[in-house]
Amino acid sequence: MLRLVCPCLFGLEKTLAFEIRRAGGENLAVRDGKVFFDGSEETMARVNLTSSCAERVGIVLGEFSSPDFDTLFEGALASPIEQFAGRDDAFPVVGGHSVNSRLTSIPAVQRTIKKALAIRMGKAYKVQRPAETGQVFPVHFLLQKDSCLLTLDTSGDRLHKRGYRAASLEAPIRETLAAGMIDLAHVRSFDNICDPFCGSGTILIESALKMLNIAPNMNRSFAAEKWGCFDKNIWEKERLAAKEQIKQEDITLYGFDKDPAAVRLTMENARKAGVDKYIKVQQRDIADFHFPIIPCKVITNPPYAKRLLTEEQAEDIYRTMGERMLPLGDNRLYVITSNEDFPALFGEKPKKERKLYNGMLKCRLYIYD
Ligand SMILES: C[S@@+](CC[C@H](N)C(=O)[O-])C[C@H]1O[C@@H](n2cnc3c(N)ncnc32)[C@H](O)[C@@H]1O
Repeated sequence: MLRLVCPCLFGLEKTLAFEIRRAGGENLAVRDGKVFFDGSEETMARVNLTSSCAERVGIVLGEFSSPDFDTLFEGALASPIEQFAGRDDAFPVVGGHSVNSRLTSIPAVQRTIKKALAIRMGKAYKVQRPAETGQVFPVHFLLQKDSCLLTLDTSGDRLHKRGYRAASLEAPIRETLAAGMIDLAHVRSFDNICDPFCGSGTILIESALKMLNIAPNMNRSFAAEKWGCFDKNIWEKERLAAKEQIKQEDITLYGFDKDPAAVRLTMENARKAGVDKYIKVQQRDIADFHFPIIPCKVITNPPYAKRLLTEEQAEDIYRTMGERMLPLGDNRLYVITSNEDFPALFGEKPKKERKLYNGMLKCRLYIYD
């Protein structure tokens, strides 16, 4: 059994916990922006392949108090990295954050952890200096309230990099956030989905993947696939199992955007994701919007002033949305924006709202269902 941890965007912990349980994770502990769990090698591979909201899957090497460099060093020295990395494998301390902690210098923390791990690896394999010429075992750290969480990253590139969005226009939504919105919208394969500001198509593509039960990370690789400590067959086995879970459904998703480049890009990305035959996109300004089919679930990330437009331009768009969409009738609407005046400008109060973060930008998902 491994103790594992997945970070996620704030607000998506519940969705992630559901996905981890579904993949076989046990003894879950949910904290802000993270879910810890126990799981086998297979569970680790399955979460990497199937989770739509996890940012990565880490193996917990240690969690210890670290108010100063001495305790940080001792904690790292007690972290059993040699259970995973072989004699000649590399273990770069690639990244980390310090939040509300006394130790704030990231490079100094990185050096201290590296030194301690190098001593431990040297002792374990009886070498003076580890060669680090083999496979890469990326080490991450998080210092929070003077406590250090040290992990081995099994994912490599962050999991929102599914592999289908090589190109994007301005202000694309992160795939993991789009997937979280879709989950909060309870998207099912019988729903009619529309995104009137589709940009590079992320919300439509993530919706199609969910509706067809396609594992979002099936077509990418992971750092741990090359590790000698795990059975190499598990990845192929889990990929095959994921393929068998794909549903054949008759679905159509509708996208609009006023930018013709967005129309082309959405189709290109959908093709890469293997869902282009389900997606219809047209160049259309929101001023000409009508529901392409009724009932329709509109899930969207309209432009907001901070990223693309002036305040007035964004507000005009929200007013136009209200003019074109209200009354909603049997249709449903899920809008993410950082503009807290959205309900007033749109012209109707949402039934619910959820705080979500688009990177560092605090946003709200306004739910009209
Ligand atoms: C925040 S981006 C959406 C990003 C998208 N979710 C993605 O992942 O790429 C907003 C999109 O709204 C489009 N847009 C701006 N004004 C518009 C309007 N008046 N009517 C329709 N689309 C508009 C922009 O071209 C842009 O692609």
